[in-house]
Amino acid sequence: MSSTLDKNTRSLDELVADFDVVTSDSPASVADREALKAKPKFGTVFTDHMSRVSWTAADGWTNRRVEKYGPLLMDPAAAVLHYGQEVFEGLKAYKHADGSVWSFRPEQNAMRYARSAHRLALPELSADDFLASVAALVRTDIDWIPTGDEASLYLRPFMFASEAFLGVRPSLEVEHLVIASPVGPYFAGGVKPVSIWISQEFARAGKGGTGEAKCGGNYAASLLPQREAAKDGFDQVCFLDGAPEPAIEELGGMNVFFVHSDGSVVTPKLSGSILQGVTRMSIIQLLVDRGIEVHERRVTLADLRTDLESGQIVEAFACGTAAVVTPIGRLADGTFDVTINNGEPGALTMDVRAELTDIQNGRREDRHGWMTRLA
Ligand code: COI
Repeated sequence: MSSTLDKNTRSLDELVADFDVVTSDSPASVADREALKAKPKFGTVFTDHMSRVSWTAADGWTNRRVEKYGPLLMDPAAAVLHYGQEVFEGLKAYKHADGSVWSFRPEQNAMRYARSAHRLALPELSADDFLASVAALVRTDIDWIPTGDEASLYLRPFMFASEAFLGVRPSLEVEHLVIASPVGPYFAGGVKPVSIWISQEFARAGKGGTGEAKCGGNYAASLLPQREAAKDGFDQVCFLDGAPEPAIEELGGMNVFFVHSDGSVVTPKLSGSILQGVTRMSIIQLLVDRGIEVHERRVTLADLRTDLESGQIVEAFACGTAAVVTPIGRLADGTFDVTINNGEPGALTMDVRAELTDIQNGRREDRHGWMTRLA
Protein backbone atom coordinates (compact mmCIF):
# COMPACT_ATOMS: atom_id res chain seq x y z
CA MET A 1 0.00 0.00 0.00
CA SER A 2 1.22 3.53 -0.64
CA SER A 3 0.72 5.99 2.20
CA THR A 4 1.78 9.03 0.19
CA LEU A 5 1.18 9.96 -3.39
CA ASP A 6 4.27 8.37 -4.81
CA LYS A 7 4.65 10.42 -7.96
CA ASN A 8 3.99 13.77 -6.30
CA THR A 9 6.55 16.07 -4.84
CA ARG A 10 4.21 17.29 -2.09
CA SER A 11 2.80 14.89 0.50
CA LEU A 12 -0.94 14.45 0.88
CA ASP A 13 -0.73 16.24 4.26
CA GLU A 14 0.80 19.28 2.57
CA LEU A 15 -1.81 19.23 -0.19
CA VAL A 16 -4.68 18.94 2.29
CA ALA A 17 -3.26 21.91 4.22
CA ASP A 18 -4.14 24.06 1.17
CA PHE A 19 -7.81 23.59 2.12
CA ASP A 20 -9.34 26.00 4.67
CA VAL A 21 -11.72 24.07 6.87
CA VAL A 22 -14.73 25.92 8.24
CA THR A 23 -16.66 23.38 10.27
CA SER A 24 -20.45 23.19 10.22
CA ASP A 25 -22.34 25.10 12.92
CA SER A 26 -25.04 22.42 12.89
CA PRO A 27 -23.49 18.96 12.43
CA ALA A 28 -25.65 15.88 12.95
CA SER A 29 -25.74 14.70 16.57
CA VAL A 30 -23.70 11.58 17.31
CA ALA A 31 -26.92 9.60 17.80
CA ASP A 32 -28.39 10.79 14.47
CA ARG A 33 -25.13 10.16 12.63
CA GLU A 34 -24.79 6.64 13.99
CA ALA A 35 -28.44 5.87 13.12
CA LEU A 36 -27.95 7.17 9.57
CA LYS A 37 -24.73 5.16 9.18
CA ALA A 38 -26.31 1.97 10.45
CA LYS A 39 -28.62 1.37 7.49
CA PRO A 40 -27.16 3.31 4.60
CA LYS A 41 -29.24 3.27 1.44
CA PHE A 42 -27.14 4.22 -1.58
CA GLY A 43 -26.80 7.94 -2.08
CA THR A 44 -29.52 9.15 0.27
CA VAL A 45 -27.57 10.40 3.29
CA PHE A 46 -24.79 13.00 3.19
CA THR A 47 -22.12 13.98 5.66
CA ASP A 48 -21.81 17.34 7.43
CA HIS A 49 -19.35 18.92 5.01
CA MET A 50 -18.34 19.24 1.36
CA SER A 51 -15.06 20.32 -0.17
CA ARG A 52 -14.87 22.88 -2.89
CA VAL A 53 -12.50 24.62 -5.31
CA SER A 54 -13.55 27.43 -7.64
CA TRP A 55 -12.23 28.27 -11.10
CA THR A 56 -12.36 31.30 -13.32
CA ALA A 57 -10.74 31.69 -16.71
CA ALA A 58 -8.83 34.69 -15.33
CA ASP A 59 -7.49 33.18 -12.08
CA GLY A 60 -7.57 29.40 -12.55
CA TRP A 61 -8.33 27.16 -9.54
CA THR A 62 -8.53 29.11 -6.26
CA ASN A 63 -10.30 29.15 -2.90
CA ARG A 64 -9.70 25.56 -1.74
CA ARG A 65 -12.00 24.91 1.20
CA VAL A 66 -14.10 22.50 3.20
CA GLU A 67 -17.44 23.97 4.24
CA LYS A 68 -20.81 23.01 5.65
CA TYR A 69 -22.78 20.66 3.37
CA GLY A 70 -25.79 22.48 2.00
CA PRO A 71 -27.73 23.80 -0.99
CA LEU A 72 -25.78 25.72 -3.61
CA LEU A 73 -26.72 29.23 -4.51
CA MET A 74 -26.85 29.22 -8.29
CA ASP A 75 -27.89 31.75 -10.89
CA PRO A 76 -30.82 30.44 -12.98
CA ALA A 77 -28.72 31.28 -16.05
CA ALA A 78 -25.81 29.06 -14.89
CA ALA A 79 -24.65 27.27 -18.03
CA VAL A 80 -24.87 23.80 -16.49
CA LEU A 81 -28.64 24.17 -16.13
CA HIS A 82 -29.02 24.81 -19.85
CA TYR A 83 -26.25 22.97 -21.67
CA GLY A 84 -25.28 20.24 -19.21
CA GLN A 85 -21.59 21.19 -19.00
CA GLU A 86 -20.78 18.89 -16.08
CA VAL A 87 -18.65 15.86 -15.17
CA PHE A 88 -18.38 13.68 -12.09
CA GLU A 89 -16.50 10.81 -10.48
CA GLY A 90 -17.28 8.03 -8.00
CA LEU A 91 -14.86 6.49 -5.51
CA LYS A 92 -14.99 5.16 -1.99
CA ALA A 93 -13.19 5.52 1.35
CA TYR A 94 -12.79 2.33 3.38
CA LYS A 95 -12.04 2.22 7.09
CA HIS A 96 -9.66 -0.64 7.87
CA ALA A 97 -9.61 -2.65 11.10
CA ASP A 98 -6.84 -0.44 12.57
CA GLY A 99 -8.91 2.72 11.98
CA SER A 100 -6.85 3.95 9.01
CA VAL A 101 -8.80 5.15 5.96
CA TRP A 102 -7.95 4.19 2.40
CA SER A 103 -9.12 4.71 -1.15
CA PHE A 104 -8.82 2.40 -4.14
CA ARG A 105 -6.76 3.72 -7.07
CA PRO A 106 -7.91 7.34 -6.62
CA GLU A 107 -5.23 8.52 -9.05
CA GLN A 108 -7.17 6.66 -11.77
CA ASN A 109 -10.31 8.61 -10.88
CA ALA A 110 -8.27 11.82 -10.93
CA MET A 111 -6.97 11.06 -14.43
CA ARG A 112 -10.42 10.11 -15.71
CA TYR A 113 -11.89 13.27 -14.18
CA ALA A 114 -9.36 15.31 -16.14
CA ARG A 115 -10.13 13.40 -19.36
CA SER A 116 -13.88 13.85 -18.83
CA ALA A 117 -13.40 17.55 -18.11
CA HIS A 118 -11.35 17.94 -21.29
CA ARG A 119 -14.13 16.31 -23.38
CA LEU A 120 -16.75 18.64 -21.86
CA ALA A 121 -14.52 21.73 -22.39
CA LEU A 122 -14.22 22.16 -18.61
CA PRO A 123 -10.90 23.07 -16.95
CA GLU A 124 -8.82 20.09 -15.82
CA LEU A 125 -8.30 19.80 -12.08
CA SER A 126 -4.82 18.54 -11.16
CA ALA A 127 -4.51 15.08 -9.59
CA ASP A 128 -3.09 16.82 -6.50
CA ASP A 129 -6.18 19.01 -6.10
CA PHE A 130 -8.48 16.08 -6.84
CA LEU A 131 -6.88 13.89 -4.17
CA ALA A 132 -6.52 16.69 -1.66
CA SER A 133 -10.17 17.72 -2.04
CA VAL A 134 -11.20 14.11 -1.41
CA ALA A 135 -8.82 13.63 1.54
CA ALA A 136 -9.70 16.98 3.14
CA LEU A 137 -13.38 16.01 3.19
CA VAL A 138 -12.71 12.46 4.40
CA ARG A 139 -10.53 13.76 7.24
CA THR A 140 -13.17 16.30 8.28
CA ASP A 141 -16.02 13.76 8.19
CA ILE A 142 -14.02 10.70 9.25
CA ASP A 143 -16.65 9.72 11.83
CA TRP A 144 -19.17 9.27 9.02
CA ILE A 145 -17.34 6.29 7.48
CA PRO A 146 -19.42 3.19 8.16
CA THR A 147 -17.74 -0.13 8.85
CA GLY A 148 -18.90 -3.68 8.24
CA ASP A 149 -19.53 -5.76 5.17
CA GLU A 150 -20.17 -3.77 2.00
CA ALA A 151 -20.06 -0.49 3.96
CA SER A 152 -17.95 2.47 2.85
CA LEU A 153 -18.08 6.21 2.35
CA TYR A 154 -19.01 6.91 -1.27
CA LEU A 155 -17.29 10.04 -2.56
CA ARG A 156 -18.77 12.05 -5.38
CA PRO A 157 -16.48 14.68 -6.91
CA PHE A 158 -18.26 16.78 -9.53
CA MET A 159 -17.59 19.87 -11.60
CA PHE A 160 -20.06 22.16 -13.31
CA ALA A 161 -20.32 25.33 -15.39
CA SER A 162 -21.51 28.04 -13.01
CA GLU A 163 -21.22 31.11 -15.21
CA ALA A 164 -24.50 32.96 -15.76
CA PHE A 165 -24.44 33.11 -19.55
CA LEU A 166 -26.80 31.71 -22.15
CA GLY A 167 -24.41 31.78 -25.10
CA VAL A 168 -23.20 28.37 -26.19
CA ARG A 169 -19.48 28.35 -25.35
CA PRO A 170 -17.37 26.87 -22.54
CA SER A 171 -18.13 28.49 -19.19
CA LEU A 172 -15.64 31.00 -17.80
CA GLU A 173 -16.61 30.05 -14.22
CA VAL A 174 -16.62 26.53 -12.83
CA GLU A 175 -17.07 24.88 -9.44
CA HIS A 176 -15.52 21.59 -8.29
CA LEU A 177 -17.09 19.97 -5.23
CA VAL A 178 -16.84 16.69 -3.38
CA ILE A 179 -19.74 15.35 -1.34
CA ALA A 180 -19.77 12.12 0.66
CA SER A 181 -22.43 9.55 1.47
CA PRO A 182 -22.20 6.52 3.78
CA VAL A 183 -23.28 3.52 1.69
CA GLY A 184 -24.01 -0.18 1.82
CA PRO A 185 -24.80 -2.32 -1.26
CA TYR A 186 -25.79 -0.36 -4.41
CA PHE A 187 -28.77 -2.58 -5.16
CA ALA A 188 -31.55 -2.62 -2.58
CA GLY A 189 -31.63 -6.44 -2.67
CA GLY A 190 -27.94 -6.72 -1.69
CA VAL A 191 -25.61 -8.94 -3.72
CA LYS A 192 -27.98 -11.02 -5.80
CA PRO A 193 -28.14 -11.59 -9.54
CA VAL A 194 -29.73 -8.80 -11.57
CA SER A 195 -31.74 -9.08 -14.78
CA ILE A 196 -30.63 -7.10 -17.81
CA TRP A 197 -32.63 -5.81 -20.77
CA ILE A 198 -30.51 -5.25 -23.89
CA SER A 199 -31.90 -2.14 -25.55
CA GLN A 200 -32.25 -2.24 -29.33
CA GLU A 201 -34.30 0.94 -29.32
CA PHE A 202 -32.23 3.40 -27.28
CA ALA A 203 -28.51 4.25 -27.32
CA ARG A 204 -26.59 6.08 -24.58
CA ALA A 205 -23.59 7.03 -26.71
CA GLY A 206 -22.28 7.02 -30.24
CA LYS A 207 -18.99 7.22 -32.08
CA GLY A 208 -17.27 10.52 -31.35
CA GLY A 209 -19.79 11.38 -28.63
CA THR A 210 -19.31 11.67 -24.88
CA GLY A 211 -19.79 7.98 -23.98
CA GLU A 212 -16.28 7.63 -22.58
CA ALA A 213 -16.63 10.73 -20.39
CA LYS A 214 -18.25 10.54 -17.00
CA CYS A 215 -20.78 13.29 -17.65
CA GLY A 216 -24.33 13.64 -16.43
CA GLY A 217 -25.79 13.67 -19.95
CA ASN A 218 -24.80 10.03 -20.53
CA TYR A 219 -26.73 9.03 -17.44
CA ALA A 220 -29.72 11.21 -18.39
CA ALA A 221 -29.82 9.37 -21.73
CA SER A 222 -30.10 6.05 -19.88
CA LEU A 223 -33.06 7.00 -17.68
CA LEU A 224 -35.95 6.50 -20.09
CA PRO A 225 -34.70 3.08 -21.28
CA GLN A 226 -34.11 2.19 -17.63
CA ARG A 227 -37.67 3.17 -16.70
CA GLU A 228 -39.14 1.23 -19.63
CA ALA A 229 -37.11 -1.86 -18.75
CA ALA A 230 -38.12 -1.62 -15.09
CA LYS A 231 -41.79 -1.69 -16.16
CA ASP A 232 -41.06 -5.13 -17.68
CA GLY A 233 -39.35 -6.30 -14.50
CA PHE A 234 -35.71 -5.79 -15.52
CA ASP A 235 -33.17 -4.32 -13.10
CA GLN A 236 -30.78 -2.71 -15.58
CA VAL A 237 -30.33 -1.91 -19.28
CA CYS A 238 -27.40 -2.93 -21.44
CA PHE A 239 -26.59 -0.58 -24.32
CA LEU A 240 -25.32 -1.43 -27.81
CA ASP A 241 -22.88 0.50 -29.98
CA GLY A 242 -25.41 1.35 -32.69
CA ALA A 243 -23.33 -0.25 -35.48
CA PRO A 244 -25.12 -2.17 -38.29
CA GLU A 245 -24.06 -5.42 -36.62
CA PRO A 246 -24.53 -4.16 -33.04
CA ALA A 247 -22.16 -5.00 -30.22
CA ILE A 248 -22.55 -4.89 -26.45
CA GLU A 249 -21.08 -1.81 -24.75
CA GLU A 250 -22.00 -1.30 -21.09
CA LEU A 251 -24.87 -0.84 -18.67
CA GLY A 252 -24.63 2.93 -18.34
CA GLY A 253 -23.41 2.77 -14.74
CA MET A 254 -21.42 -0.46 -15.00
CA ASN A 255 -19.13 -2.45 -17.31
CA VAL A 256 -19.92 -6.08 -18.20
CA PHE A 257 -17.98 -9.36 -18.21
CA PHE A 258 -18.86 -12.84 -19.55
CA VAL A 259 -17.26 -16.05 -18.26
CA HIS A 260 -17.05 -18.82 -20.88
CA SER A 261 -17.20 -22.56 -20.33
CA ASP A 262 -13.52 -22.93 -21.41
CA GLY A 263 -12.55 -20.74 -18.45
CA SER A 264 -11.78 -17.61 -20.47
CA VAL A 265 -13.40 -14.26 -19.74
CA VAL A 266 -14.63 -11.73 -22.29
CA THR A 267 -15.40 -8.04 -21.83
CA PRO A 268 -16.29 -5.46 -24.49
CA LYS A 269 -13.15 -3.65 -25.61
CA LEU A 270 -12.92 0.08 -25.00
CA SER A 271 -14.38 1.71 -28.06
CA GLY A 272 -14.32 5.40 -27.22
CA SER A 273 -17.96 5.25 -26.15
CA ILE A 274 -17.52 2.90 -23.16
CA LEU A 275 -16.57 4.23 -19.73
CA GLN A 276 -13.02 3.22 -18.77
CA GLY A 277 -14.03 1.67 -15.47
CA VAL A 278 -11.45 1.55 -12.66
CA THR A 279 -13.16 -1.60 -11.36
CA ARG A 280 -13.13 -2.99 -14.92
CA MET A 281 -9.36 -2.54 -15.33
CA SER A 282 -8.69 -3.91 -11.84
CA ILE A 283 -10.77 -7.03 -12.44
CA ILE A 284 -8.96 -7.70 -15.70
CA GLN A 285 -5.67 -7.57 -13.75
CA LEU A 286 -6.95 -9.86 -10.97
CA LEU A 287 -8.17 -12.40 -13.55
CA VAL A 288 -4.86 -12.26 -15.47
CA ASP A 289 -3.03 -12.77 -12.14
CA ARG A 290 -4.98 -16.02 -11.77
CA GLY A 291 -3.77 -17.18 -15.17
CA ILE A 292 -7.20 -16.64 -16.72
CA GLU A 293 -7.32 -15.65 -20.38
CA VAL A 294 -9.12 -12.31 -20.66
CA HIS A 295 -10.28 -11.13 -24.07
CA GLU A 296 -11.13 -7.48 -24.54
CA ARG A 297 -12.98 -7.61 -27.83
CA ARG A 298 -16.07 -6.52 -29.66
CA VAL A 299 -18.96 -8.70 -28.45
CA THR A 300 -21.68 -8.65 -31.08
CA LEU A 301 -25.25 -9.15 -29.97
CA ALA A 302 -25.50 -12.10 -32.39
CA ASP A 303 -22.46 -13.83 -30.83
CA LEU A 304 -23.69 -13.10 -27.32
CA ARG A 305 -27.02 -14.68 -28.10
CA THR A 306 -25.38 -17.78 -29.62
CA ASP A 307 -23.03 -18.17 -26.63
CA LEU A 308 -25.84 -17.68 -24.12
CA GLU A 309 -28.22 -20.10 -25.83
CA SER A 310 -25.55 -22.77 -26.32
CA GLY A 311 -24.46 -22.53 -22.68
CA GLN A 312 -20.96 -21.32 -23.69
CA ILE A 313 -21.44 -18.38 -21.35
CA VAL A 314 -21.61 -19.82 -17.86
CA GLU A 315 -21.44 -16.63 -15.78
CA ALA A 316 -21.94 -12.93 -16.37
CA PHE A 317 -21.37 -9.98 -14.11
CA ALA A 318 -21.47 -6.20 -14.04
CA CYS A 319 -18.97 -4.02 -12.23
CA GLY A 320 -18.41 -0.46 -11.12
CA THR A 321 -17.33 1.49 -8.07
CA ALA A 322 -20.84 1.73 -6.66
CA ALA A 323 -22.00 -1.77 -7.57
CA VAL A 324 -18.56 -3.43 -7.05
CA VAL A 325 -19.19 -6.79 -8.79
CA THR A 326 -22.82 -7.72 -9.34
CA PRO A 327 -23.81 -11.09 -10.81
CA ILE A 328 -26.10 -11.07 -13.85
CA GLY A 329 -28.77 -13.80 -13.70
CA ARG A 330 -30.75 -13.07 -16.86
CA LEU A 331 -30.26 -11.34 -20.22
CA ALA A 332 -33.02 -10.62 -22.72
CA ASP A 333 -33.62 -8.40 -25.74
CA GLY A 334 -37.13 -9.20 -26.95
CA THR A 335 -35.94 -11.95 -29.31
CA PHE A 336 -34.22 -14.07 -26.65
CA ASP A 337 -34.44 -14.46 -22.88
CA VAL A 338 -31.72 -16.53 -21.20
CA THR A 339 -31.21 -17.37 -17.54
CA ILE A 340 -27.52 -17.77 -16.67
CA ASN A 341 -26.25 -20.33 -14.17
CA ASN A 342 -29.86 -21.06 -13.09
CA GLY A 343 -30.09 -17.44 -11.95
CA GLU A 344 -27.47 -18.07 -9.25
CA PRO A 345 -24.28 -16.00 -8.72
CA GLY A 346 -21.34 -17.67 -10.49
CA ALA A 347 -18.38 -19.05 -8.53
CA LEU A 348 -15.72 -16.99 -10.34
CA THR A 349 -17.89 -13.87 -10.09
CA MET A 350 -18.20 -14.19 -6.34
CA ASP A 351 -14.55 -15.14 -5.90
CA VAL A 352 -13.28 -12.09 -7.78
CA ARG A 353 -15.75 -9.96 -5.88
CA ALA A 354 -14.38 -11.27 -2.58
CA GLU A 355 -10.79 -10.71 -3.70
CA LEU A 356 -11.47 -7.12 -4.74
CA THR A 357 -13.46 -6.18 -1.62
CA ASP A 358 -10.85 -7.87 0.59
CA ILE A 359 -8.10 -5.74 -0.97
CA GLN A 360 -10.23 -2.60 -0.62
CA ASN A 361 -11.00 -3.34 3.02
CA GLY A 362 -7.41 -4.25 3.94
CA ARG A 363 -8.15 -7.95 4.48
CA ARG A 364 -5.91 -9.21 1.66
CA GLU A 365 -2.49 -8.22 0.44
CA ASP A 366 -2.50 -5.22 -1.90
CA ARG A 367 0.13 -6.68 -4.23
CA HIS A 368 -0.36 -4.05 -6.92
CA GLY A 369 -0.10 -1.06 -4.56
CA TRP A 370 -3.63 0.05 -5.46
CA MET A 371 -4.60 1.48 -2.08
CA THR A 372 -3.83 5.09 -1.09
CA ARG A 373 -4.04 6.13 2.55
CA LEU A 374 -6.30 9.14 3.04
CA ALA A 375 -6.31 9.37 6.84
C1 COI B 1 -20.01 4.55 -9.78
O1 COI B 1 -19.96 3.32 -9.84
O2 COI B 1 -19.35 5.20 -8.98
C2 COI B 1 -20.89 5.28 -10.67
O3 COI B 1 -20.59 6.41 -10.95
C3 COI B 1 -22.10 4.62 -11.17
C4 COI B 1 -23.38 5.25 -10.79
C5 COI B 1 -23.71 5.30 -9.34
C6 COI B 1 -23.61 6.53 -11.50
